[in-house]
Amino acid sequence: MKILKLMERGAKILGSRYAILGGAMTWISEARLVSSMANSGIFGVLASGAMDGDLLKQEIESTQEKTRQNFGVNIIIANPELHNLIEVCGEKKISHIIVAGGILDKNLIDEIHSRGMQVMTFAPALSIARTLFRQGIDALILEGSEAGGHVGPVSTMVLIQDILLNLREYPIFIAGGILRGEVVASLLQLGAVGCQLGTVFACCKESTAHENFKKALLKARGRNAVTPVQLDKKFPIAQVRAIENLGTEKFIAKQRETLIKFGKGEVALDDGRLSLEHFWAGALRRAVRDGDVDRGSLMAGQIVEIVKEERSIEEIVLTLLTEAECFLSSAACAFPIA
Ligand SMILES: Cc1cc2nc3c(=O)[nH]c(=O)nc-3n(C[C@H](O)[C@H](O)[C@H](O)COP(=O)(O)O)c2cc1C
Repeated sequence: MKILKLMERGAKILGSRYAILGGAMTWISEARLVSSMANSGIFGVLASGAMDGDLLKQEIESTQEKTRQNFGVNIIIANPELHNLIEVCGEKKISHIIVAGGILDKNLIDEIHSRGMQVMTFAPALSIARTLFRQGIDALILEGSEAGGHVGPVSTMVLIQDILLNLREYPIFIAGGILRGEVVASLLQLGAVGCQLGTVFACCKESTAHENFKKALLKARGRNAVTPVQLDKKFPIAQVRAIENLGTEKFIAKQRETLIKFGKGEVALDDGRLSLEHFWAGALRRAVRDGDVDRGSLMAGQIVEIVKEERSIEEIVLTLLTEAECFLSSAACAFPIA
């Protein structure tokens, strides 16, 4: 198959059959989902979120009981247990750590390497990507602002042209707004080594997310997957793409109220910022675990526009591979190169 040939390099880096990552999703990417991904030939990534070392150890063991295939662990750089989590991953013979939520330094890269694991991470700009490769990361994920969850300001299309096309010699995976096999094939032709998908797996049959959460994503349109409006630069707002709901409206009201209080001198700048930061605390859990689709955070990417049914991971992967193969075959017919 042509698509498998194109995926060869990425699959080798990941140690999986296909060069597709099931991106980590806090509260969603747990043992069942990740092991099912691994057993379907893609590279699943456990989300460690705010876990401590003991919890992560349990989750890794539970995943390893369900699969003999490789999988990775996503670690948020601000987690106070960062070094403990890395140690646990090393002990449990995890192959790859995917560091998210900030730019990592050479010491952290060396620390992960010294424990026998590969390091992958994200970069929002070309200069940062170059530095990270120079410092020794094993692969990069370019995640555009179409993606679900915490996002940067730049779209996948621009990151591809700014970073991928300038760093073709390095292993780069693309994420954000990807579902169809034709797109995956085209990205591989452009020099990417693989792709990472998230939202579609949040809604798949093996996902243990609450039915209400899945239904809200399946019925949403792309335009409903928004990042929050920031009313004032003095109160910066984390950019998290999610389906708009009552919580989104209440958040705008909360910002307005904070601004008024700040204007009147009733609240200090730091306290105001902190109260806005705390607004969404625990909100993803409320949506994903408790099914509170009104006040919880319905993190999802714009790709919800074309995610319309709950499919199994195997069906999603098979469809993607078939689309990619058909695309590559007809492209070869239309544009014979050799
Ligand atoms: C509900 C949800 C939670 C997420 N949580 C995380 C996370 O904890 N760590 C991370 O690196 N990325 C997280 N992401 C991003 C995904 O790993 C993935 O890169 C992204 O969903 C890909 O884009 P897509 O949503 O367009 O498929 C999350 C995405 C979603 C939808």
